[in-house]
Amino acid sequence: MKFHVITLGCQMSAADGAETAADFRRRGWQATAVPAQADAIFLTTCSVRRHAEERALSLIGRLREWKAQDPRRLLVVAGCVAQRLGSRLTKRFPHIDCVVGARHAGHYAEIVAEALKDRISASPQAMPKPLATPRGAGIPLGGPVQHLTIIRGCSCACSYCIVPSVRGSESCRPVEEILDEAHARIQNGARELTLLGQRVNAYRSDGMDFPDLLRALDALPGLRRLRFMSPHPTLCTDRLAAAIRECRTVCEWVHLPAQSGCDRILGLMRRGYSRQQFLDTAERLRATVPDVVISTDIIVGFPSETETDFTQTLTMLEELRPATAFCFKYSARETTPAAALADDVPAPVKEKRLAAVNAAVERLTRQALDAQVGGIVEVLAETSTFGRTRTGFKTRWQSPAAAGDLISIRVNSATRRTLLGDINEPNTP
Ligand code: SAH
Ligand code: SF4
Ligand code: F3S
Repeated sequence: MKFHVITLGCQMSAADGAETAADFRRRGWQATAVPAQADAIFLTTCSVRRHAEERALSLIGRLREWKAQDPRRLLVVAGCVAQRLGSRLTKRFPHIDCVVGARHAGHYAEIVAEALKDRISASPQAMPKPLATPRGAGIPLGGPVQHLTIIRGCSCACSYCIVPSVRGSESCRPVEEILDEAHARIQNGARELTLLGQRVNAYRSDGMDFPDLLRALDALPGLRRLRFMSPHPTLCTDRLAAAIRECRTVCEWVHLPAQSGCDRILGLMRRGYSRQQFLDTAERLRATVPDVVISTDIIVGFPSETETDFTQTLTMLEELRPATAFCFKYSARETTPAAALADDVPAPVKEKRLAAVNAAVERLTRQALDAQVGGIVEVLAETSTFGRTRTGFKTRWQSPAAAGDLISIRVNSATRRTLLGDINEPNTP
């Protein structure tokens, strides 16, 4: 049985896909990068904006042809669109064999295997289940940089967001399980781990909170870097800042989603902070963690957002000075509280505001990259000539290094998004 995995959406969706691929392999199936060679396609989908959902639906539509080439092939649709639309998906796309919603993330492989067991055993290439589970199986073979989900779901109530309704409320994985998985991943080659959760710093389990968990993971031998995303601004405590500063592996990069710089809009969004409280949080982080780099998320065109409200987002960005930001046009999502408000910012205005924030972000990114030129940065090689700095900047160099190594790079120049440099030989002038 050969399977091919496609992941759409956030890093948690990608991590779900990687975990499922590892579980399939443990069942004796083989991964293929070529859909035409696959007996099964496993797709995880995103529903966060209308556009993301449309992308998933259009891909499912295009897979009709793949399925038609051999009706024994299996198409499995998982993730947030699967959760939101359920059987409406199979009604619209009868070529789907199995729909499994995002609330089952973590158990996708067993659900798929059970739901399709007759079909799978009838498959021409079905392989027997291996007798023994090889050591490390079930842990994605993801190279030196890997993701590790620590919280599933979200218990926040941001008024625009569909995630809590599709993923359900927050559930934290036990500390022991996280430490075991981190250990197994390091054994499998991981050097950098990114802890994932929609509000990753809401973590609490077995008497430990998020800063405690960072300290516990920091002690793991073989781990070189630890990142996390996304922390919620209201939970960025002084204890968290101290853990970032004091832990050897925890990187000086924090993704702190602002969403807006206008108090009235932040209130309607139910984000739980004001513009000033948000900026103070970033300032406290900067005061505790020297040279910390901040990135953010912005939504433009939220219901009733005026030109003056929007200007406040632009001025907030100038004060925050993020190194980068992901900016989105507001998209009304069925069943969210914000969907009850009139989606009254006209599409061309949303477009114009998006272009304006993107231009501001482009300039801030340029300045952040330029500030690195002439300096020496520590890079974790993800391939022989590409890696990232601790602060998250993409970096390329010429002479090959070994993937997984920490190397020192002298930065010569920067493109729009990437630092360019050479390996710094410490003993040459
Ligand atoms: N849990 C994370 C992000 C989850 S979704 C957090 O709270 O930071 C990723 C980003 O998508 C959000 O930060 C937000 O900027 C954007 N987003 C979520 N819902 C949206 C919507 N309905 N319309 C436009 N952007 C949205
Ligand atoms: Fe959505 Fe807010 Fe939860 Fe992030 S914190 S996933 S924006 S509800
Ligand atoms: Fe999308 Fe679901 Fe992630 S809606 S952003 S794939 S949690």
